[in-house]
Amino acid sequence: MSRVEFADVQGLVRFGYGHLTEASYALVRVKNVAAAKAWLHSTRVTDAAKSPTNTAINIAFTAPGLRALGISESVIAGFSQEFRAGMAQESRARQLGDVGNNAPSNWAWGSYGCEPHAVVMFFGKPEQFGFFVQSTKGTPWSDAFEEVTSLGTSNLDEHEPFGFKDGISQPQIDWEQRRQTPCTQLEYTNIVALGEFLLGYRNEYGKITDRPLLEPDSASAELLAANDAPTKKDLGRNGTYLVMRELEQDVRKFWQFLHQQAAGNIEEARQLGAKIVGRMQSGDPLVPTEERPTPGSDATSTQQNRFTYHNDPTGARCPFGAHIRRANPRNSDFPEQRIGLLRKLVIMLGFGPKGFYDDLTSSVRFHRILRRGREYGSELRPEQALAPAPPNEQPRGLNFICLNANISRQFEFLQNAWISNAKFAGLAGETDPLLGNRERIAGYCRPSANFTMQKENGLRYPLSGLPQFVTVRGGAYFFLPSLRALRYFAGTGNA
Ligand code: HEM
Repeated sequence: MSRVEFADVQGLVRFGYGHLTEASYALVRVKNVAAAKAWLHSTRVTDAAKSPTNTAINIAFTAPGLRALGISESVIAGFSQEFRAGMAQESRARQLGDVGNNAPSNWAWGSYGCEPHAVVMFFGKPEQFGFFVQSTKGTPWSDAFEEVTSLGTSNLDEHEPFGFKDGISQPQIDWEQRRQTPCTQLEYTNIVALGEFLLGYRNEYGKITDRPLLEPDSASAELLAANDAPTKKDLGRNGTYLVMRELEQDVRKFWQFLHQQAAGNIEEARQLGAKIVGRMQSGDPLVPTEERPTPGSDATSTQQNRFTYHNDPTGARCPFGAHIRRANPRNSDFPEQRIGLLRKLVIMLGFGPKGFYDDLTSSVRFHRILRRGREYGSELRPEQALAPAPPNEQPRGLNFICLNANISRQFEFLQNAWISNAKFAGLAGETDPLLGNRERIAGYCRPSANFTMQKENGLRYPLSGLPQFVTVRGGAYFFLPSLRALRYFAGTGNA
């Protein structure tokens, strides 16, 4: 398997650009194809060869965006079905929980038929940022694009607006492609095959990812040959899919609700908040951490991330429904419980009775995402959030971004089967307490506004009447091309 040419990969795949504390995301539609291509040609997109010092720019396209650039339908047909259909497609929106207040018809951008064509992501140090954005756009920008909106971000010192430390847990990508797949994973591991995050490489199934392959012609000459089909040109290789969602957070509602549930005790409100997230505000997990890194993690992995739920089989420390336990149950290819080899074999062969944990059997390593989002809005501490909102308060939230090679098996699975699923880990009738839309779930008479916290003695302590804390304001699926593919897009097509 060939080594990754980092100079062909957009930097965002390898780096979160944490030191570039300023960022904004311009969502654009192509106004003039020739001008757009000229701008793409002349813009120096940041690659992954080394972490940029002062500024960075990365670009991704929606399927309508590729069409707008004149890319032919036969080429677009090689991209995944979910990318082509888009996030706001009606049946997909239902699966993602984008109903009620979250429905695409209420979005500020990205509703069906009004998708942006591209997102241009700017990053920089505070001193350089303003000038960098202005000068990169230049005159051709206004000729080329109509700006649908520009999403700003803020720097809350690695905390998201509810006040919890974020960005602690990320999968470790196997850039060297040493991981032997397919394999059977008996223990949770944080290392994940490259093909889960970059197209054209082996994924956790040991298969080279699906992606668009082209018959060679002069336009595609510069593209790399496909790893598994040397006579084809690989338009996907070194690219990946980017999921973006603007998620508005009602910080006042969050802390006011918890404060009320805690009978006016702010410390207890913080404890309840920690149960909802699955970590303390400091980022410390609710389960004990281990001295040694989680298998597969490098020795530098942060102490706050060295844990599994192995020692919390009843959910008494970290509730089964807590946001981070839903989003990554940290299990292996088997239910996360102390079971002997014989039992593992029985499960592997498909025999044996169904147990409490069996709806967790879906192994986590096929459902990891690389989170690259940034928060927006000003800081509001829990004590401050108890006061009523002043007039014209500016919104707060998360411009959620994640990267994955298979939107359906990674982002959508997480969102649908774990975060929005009313039947999860033995729970019924409740969804993610942080993100849930609180809509009525088919088969249940009440809205999904509960959150169960398990206790040591087998008892459960339910929170009920949870309001909706997070509302979707926009979203889209993008393709983040390799630098070679970017040049192909800029050069080919009708204009
Ligand atoms: C406003 C919305 C959201 C907020 C406030 C939020 C907050 C958090 C926080 C505080 C953490 C813990 C920090 C860490 O482990 O890095 C976390 C982890 C995580 N979140 Fe979210 N999140 C939001 C939306 C989402 C969405 C939409 C998804 C995916 C569909 C998601 C997936 C994850 C994952 C995978 C983790 C890491 C879990 C782990 O590996 O232990 N989050 N989130």
